[in-house]
Amino acid sequence: MSTETHGMMAQGMAPQEAAEPEAGQEEPPRYLARVQVYTLYERFWHWTQALLILLLLFTGFHLHGSLAWLPFGTAYQWHVAAALALMALWVFTIFWQFSTGNWRQFVPLLDEVHHAPTFRQALHGWLLMLLRIARYYAWGILRGEQHPYKKRLRRKNNPLQALAYFGLMAFIGPLLWLSGLALLSWDFWRHAASLASTEGWRTLAANAHMLGAWLMLLFVIGHAYLATLGKTPLYLIRGMITGVEHVWLTETELRFLRQWYPQRVLDVRDKETAA
Ligand code: HEM
Repeated sequence: MSTETHGMMAQGMAPQEAAEPEAGQEEPPRYLARVQVYTLYERFWHWTQALLILLLLFTGFHLHGSLAWLPFGTAYQWHVAAALALMALWVFTIFWQFSTGNWRQFVPLLDEVHHAPTFRQALHGWLLMLLRIARYYAWGILRGEQHPYKKRLRRKNNPLQALAYFGLMAFIGPLLWLSGLALLSWDFWRHAASLASTEGWRTLAANAHMLGAWLMLLFVIGHAYLATLGKTPLYLIRGMITGVEHVWLTETELRFLRQWYPQRVLDVRDKETAA
């Protein structure tokens, strides 16, 4: 058994080959179960990251001049300390994501490509679900419709979430870290290069950092708003605190969890009544 499979098992996921149908096969019936979906590390990572990012936004807008509640020096010290802490957290989390195989949850289309016979069909299904979710948030939710996406243990994030989280991790995060590190080490580069033209690069790094900050603020506002749109306003937020949520499990996943991680399965509804 591969290290990655062990990692998936450690998170309470059944090994892929046992849990999922082959491409083109019919979806197996699923049970709606209350399961510990988010492990302690995932929750620690999420909330520490959220706190650090809120602190970075708060102090960063002081450095930019948009806020003036803190002395500049204090805002600068807190900003640099939070940024370094967040980067350390990211290094650990990247290691954790890859060693457990959890990184797959964040890559748009990966699951669809694995299950559809062709890439075209995968893309079609993925786009359709994205549109159904957008329609749900714009319209269906007001009419009391059900969320179109059935959350699964092997695919906790729906296509919209996966897209947003992927954008956050692959674009907004790196843009902020790279431009932030460039600004932090600016004096070093200025002396090392001793070029008059370095000022242009500094402006570029500062603008890139501001772009990243505005995108991050946009993400946080949209994300916090969507987090209140579960069954009740606090349902998803409570889930991210306790780790427990409803997900759809295949029979194999259910048997696997009951055998190896019984404490993570809290309640299972009959598949007929759950549908
Ligand atoms: C401030 C920066 C934040 C970032 C970068 C962030 C990032 C993320 C990421 C990457 C996930 C997916 C975790 C996973 O699937 O393993 C997630 C999930 C979640 N976040 Fe945040 N988050 C932030 C703030 C917040 C805040 C302030 C709230 C509460 C209002 C919140 C509530 C949630 C909830 C409820 C989920 C789970 C969604 C679900 O179960 O469908 N997050 N967040």
